[in-house]
Amino acid sequence: MILSIESSCDDSAVAITEIATRRLVFHKKISQELEHSVYGGVVPELASRLHAEALPRILELCKPYFSELKAVAVTTTPGLAVTLIEGVTMAKAVSIALGIPIISVNHLKGHIYSLFIEKETELPLTVLLVSGGHTQVIEAKSFDDMKVVASTMDDSFGESFDKVAKMMDLGYPGGPEIENLAKGGDRKRYDFTIPLHQSPKIAFSYSGLKNAVRLAVLEGTKEDYKDIAASFEHIAVAHLTQKLKKYFKANPPKKFAIVGGASANMYLRGQIEKLIAPYGAALLLSELKYCSDNAAMIGRVAVEMYERGMFTLQNELKVSSRSEL
Ligand code: KG4
Ligand code: ZN
Repeated sequence: MILSIESSCDDSAVAITEIATRRLVFHKKISQELEHSVYGGVVPELASRLHAEALPRILELCKPYFSELKAVAVTTTPGLAVTLIEGVTMAKAVSIALGIPIISVNHLKGHIYSLFIEKETELPLTVLLVSGGHTQVIEAKSFDDMKVVASTMDDSFGESFDKVAKMMDLGYPGGPEIENLAKGGDRKRYDFTIPLHQSPKIAFSYSGLKNAVRLAVLEGTKEDYKDIAASFEHIAVAHLTQKLKKYFKANPPKKFAIVGGASANMYLRGQIEKLIAPYGAALLLSELKYCSDNAAMIGRVAVEMYERGMFTLQNELKVSSRSEL
């Protein structure tokens, strides 16, 4: 079995995965959303301190499996350096105490492998990754051949929901709050411009839309919030589908997946389904509980790496915020 640790942002999570069967034997996550909610976003120092408390508490529950562990895996990139380091420190301690090797896992690859928890992989795939830190289109051909073909030039998709929610005092994370509020709103009332709609570039940008929404919030009253939320969500998603449509002209999808925390958004799922239907492409989604950050997805990547002998020495284990795959 492999023990995996995730602490790249505001979720402390540990999983245990059986190597031969890919079965998830144990998974526990302690989320810090409530603690950060009052600040309208993640406070890195607070997150780091909360990981230092939560991770050992979860590890304690894994003791019965210690004798079966063949490796310890940990997210090392990308993420907040001060929170990644908490997971890395615990991984090193487990490695020394049990005499097992360390596997250094890329968080973005983790989100892709959230599609395959307790399953065999189904690559190649075109993937839309939408999270709090990233908005990327990835051509995932095989485990070691993954290429980012489009990404955001400024804010990410999930981040724009967090920021709009903050403008309306809705708390953190903003994605689910905005999605809920938008359900009762008029998507067409505010005529926000679709970002980069005249640009031939296949890239994303959310800062202009965020600023347009800020003006609407300032000029409106609380009664307008649901229509602002609905119109914002509509344009934020239209931006994704418009750029994807452009990308599909030269690269028609065969199998398409949406991953990352914001892939839980039902309006986004519906619009992507409509977009890919004419290509006859299958849509793959993670289970809702594995869309947001978790350690099960890190364990699933770690199984692939274990089978390829991809271990990292203690003194070579480094954290970073780089977004390459
Ligand atoms: O993948 P994730 O848990 O953490 C990162 O790796 O960033 O994603 C969290 C992000 C947050 O920005 C959150 O607001 C967004 O995903 N999110 C959503 C929804 N649920 C979570 N965004 C839009 N609609 C949602 N339903
Ligand atoms: Zn994530």
